[in-house]
Amino acid sequence: MENKWWKNKVVYQIYPQSFYDYQNNGIGNLKGIIQKLDYLKKLGIEMVWISSFYKSPMVDNGYDVSDYYAINSQYGSIADFEDLINEAKKRNIHILLDLVVNHCSDQHEWFQKALKDPLGFYGDYFIIKKGTGSRPPNNWRGIFGGSVWEPIEGTDLYYYHTFTKEQPDLNWENKNLRNEIYKIINFWLEKGIAGFRLDAISFIKKNPSYESFNADRPDGLVALRTVSINYPGIEVFLKELKEKTFDRFNAFTVAEMSALKPESFSKFIGNEGLFTSVFDFGFMNADLKNSTLWYKHNSFSALDVALPLFKSQEAAQQCDGSLAIALENHDQPRSLNKWFGSTTFSFEQAAFLAVLNLSLRGIPFLFQGQEIGMTNVDWDTVSEIRDAKSLSQYEQAITDGIDPREAFKAIAYRSRDNARSPMQWNDQPYAGFSKNMPWTKVNSNYQSINVQKQESDPDSLLSFYKALIQLRCKSKYSRVFTEGSLVQIFKDKQNLIAFERIYQTQKIHVLLNYSNNDEKIVCDKKPFYVLGNYRSMLYEKDILRLRPFEALIFEVF
Ligand code: NOJ
Repeated sequence: MENKWWKNKVVYQIYPQSFYDYQNNGIGNLKGIIQKLDYLKKLGIEMVWISSFYKSPMVDNGYDVSDYYAINSQYGSIADFEDLINEAKKRNIHILLDLVVNHCSDQHEWFQKALKDPLGFYGDYFIIKKGTGSRPPNNWRGIFGGSVWEPIEGTDLYYYHTFTKEQPDLNWENKNLRNEIYKIINFWLEKGIAGFRLDAISFIKKNPSYESFNADRPDGLVALRTVSINYPGIEVFLKELKEKTFDRFNAFTVAEMSALKPESFSKFIGNEGLFTSVFDFGFMNADLKNSTLWYKHNSFSALDVALPLFKSQEAAQQCDGSLAIALENHDQPRSLNKWFGSTTFSFEQAAFLAVLNLSLRGIPFLFQGQEIGMTNVDWDTVSEIRDAKSLSQYEQAITDGIDPREAFKAIAYRSRDNARSPMQWNDQPYAGFSKNMPWTKVNSNYQSINVQKQESDPDSLLSFYKALIQLRCKSKYSRVFTEGSLVQIFKDKQNLIAFERIYQTQKIHVLLNYSNNDEKIVCDKKPFYVLGNYRSMLYEKDILRLRPFEALIFEVF
């Protein structure tokens, strides 16, 4: 198999709980995914990432794994999974699984055994330390808020958790534990999957000092993101992990490495890198503007996007590495709401995001529903929210003195549940996702936004995505998109995100006008129109005029 077999593929992320319910119990399942493989094939997808589907008590929707060798029965069985692999192979679709090994579930047998004997064999699979007096070992704050430490009843010991207290962190310093992890990975690779998305991998190496630092908020705690993330020494773990597992299968890996600086890309991606790819979160979180105050919603400019985006594009290119380019995933609000801050959106706006997602250098990842322009959900009350993170953030906001209505507005906008609403297949009850009441709210706009409506319409967003994927992967321009270099252009134009892609003698320009106003560009030679969200190009007397939110791809000779 060619070494870089993945380079010209577009990846589609499936959130299994919300994709398609073929068994009609209100929850999506593996049989449902099989039913929709032809849909994905027609869209041009050749690789699918399925979010965590292992056995789990579902405190964090499957990212709390209680048995790495079993599939959560609500999704199906190992036999269903094997069917899925076979059916996907028939359609030339590769499958990526989620790998959640920074932590497991408190229901995992390792942790249950550790609780019984915290200083014994399994106790050392976790991070267990003595408190100081009646206080936890240090003042680190976990990703979902609150201390990373949880007391172990009847002892003066605490265990460490980066996420919820039901997700105890695994101790990667322990060789036996690492070997168990390699066994798990090889078990799934042997079943014929193409690779993994590595969950929360930034956190596997802890800052070994375990000391307290100056608090960054009134709660007296300090964010983990500043004291123990991508900690030096992590590369030693990652190298061994790669050698014992992925390398043996020429597997594809994409890492969730938050806060990774472009300066460090060469260590993690590239020909000698530790992963095939890492997500570029710099521009995915442009609306947060580096603030840790998630409830502060900021609008952002083209410049806010362009700065981090081109910095990371350049760094990845320098080390011959591939970034994973995503605008959405199961942890983010819908990109339309984020980028255009409204409740209804135009075709041009949605197609603008499609062009951005699919024309950069790297591996494009699409999230289910993005291809039909699914939007944030019209939440009515906080009781509709299921996501553990949003609920803990809501409580934190109330404790911080935020007005409950404001706090609700903020989570309604940023809640991860926005991405997790059932896929809108048609205009039938429950959006054709299931015949039974789904586990989470269906977006009320499903009658106007759904697959069936767009499938038959050549001018729909779905058709635009198909055309764009075709252009990227199976056209005379494929190599320029999948292998070409990238340089930012028109840097002086504040409203433009613009770049040039070059492969051998072929040169493409991609111009995205992220504003409500026209933008004029001087071009002395008439550009050759390739694709755009206005389906035409306004060019007259050496001037190319970009309309509001116009996204244009053209060839330059
Ligand atoms: C990142 C996952 O994407 C998210 O859904 C989960 O809550 C955390 N990691 C913990 O596994």
